[in-house]
Amino acid sequence: MINFDRSTQPLMNPDFLPINGTDHIEFYVGNAKQAALFYQHCMGFELIAYAGPETGVRDRASYVMQQEKIRFILTSSLQPESSISEHVKRHGDGVKVLALWVDDATKSFHETVSRGAEVASEPKTLQDEFGKVVVASIKTYGETIHTFVERSAYQGAFMPGYKAMKSSVQSIPIGLKYVDHCVGNVELGQMNRWVDFYEHVMGFKLLITFDDKDISTEYSALMSKVVSNGNGYIKFPINEPAAGKKKSQIEEYLDFYHGAGVQHIAIATDDIIFTVGELRKRGVEFLRVPDIYYDDVLDRVGHINEDLQALKKLNILIDRDEEGYLLQIFTKPVQDRPTLFFEIIERNGAKSFGKGNFKALFEAIELEQGLRGNL
Ligand code: FE2
Repeated sequence: MINFDRSTQPLMNPDFLPINGTDHIEFYVGNAKQAALFYQHCMGFELIAYAGPETGVRDRASYVMQQEKIRFILTSSLQPESSISEHVKRHGDGVKVLALWVDDATKSFHETVSRGAEVASEPKTLQDEFGKVVVASIKTYGETIHTFVERSAYQGAFMPGYKAMKSSVQSIPIGLKYVDHCVGNVELGQMNRWVDFYEHVMGFKLLITFDDKDISTEYSALMSKVVSNGNGYIKFPINEPAAGKKKSQIEEYLDFYHGAGVQHIAIATDDIIFTVGELRKRGVEFLRVPDIYYDDVLDRVGHINEDLQALKKLNILIDRDEEGYLLQIFTKPVQDRPTLFFEIIERNGAKSFGKGNFKALFEAIELEQGLRGNL
């Protein structure tokens, strides 16, 4: 376990790690070629770049998919003995890298390592005819890493090592705009350790705490704390299981992922009815809350601009906080293991995470857990 050095960390300076946003998220998967088609056809991403044998990369294939400000990389190993193969063998398809876009990757690396971050890879400058990108990586929960990406001097499609590539079939976007938040599941008793990491090593602030009274159903419970960077562009909720009558959804994740990892990625849209309508048409599966959810939801959340029947038809959930309301929905896991899933969220002023929906949502998750024999 890391001991974070608090003697040298200047808590008074909140700007030691300025972050411009999420640079990209890299998934290690069993078959990147097929996964790329899922993200293209079902989720409306466009293939923009590729690395693999055809571009001189011998050990892996990586597909870079983009929609508005979101970039996903899907990477598969071409060899049995590699860190990518080992990752996929242990975790199944999952998130390896949560990359952060910074102005100075070397400084970001040294600021965090000097505060106790474990090194994943030292700063290096990658160059090609389109300019240069500086990358450096630190470890976070499980086998997940954060890569700092400095790309102000780069004009290419993605970064050196990748070649611009277009698919022969045109993607039709579905209105996904940017990564709203990324949630990590960590082992029992580890939530505060990782909140501490984000606060002291990365200079994030604790935004919200949910305890097991906020997030429990008849069967299972979890605890969650949300940390955010200075400008609020990066939000990382961290979950840990809490004791319940039966197995927590977080324990189910930890069992199948074999450790801590990214549980869900929330993606923002400006038109959730269009986005979710398209996702459903294209075959993406969602958790289902019972129709009775809609009987009294407006008593709880007050006036909303959208037609309630349209939301009910698509099974989109609604919540309100002091600043406004939000609409959200959760996919089923997007691989066979009950691990990673996506959230689609439309914020209408609300900055929270849908606490009012936790109960209905977790009951829906438990229904699925029961079907899998994991409750
Ligand atoms: Fe979420």
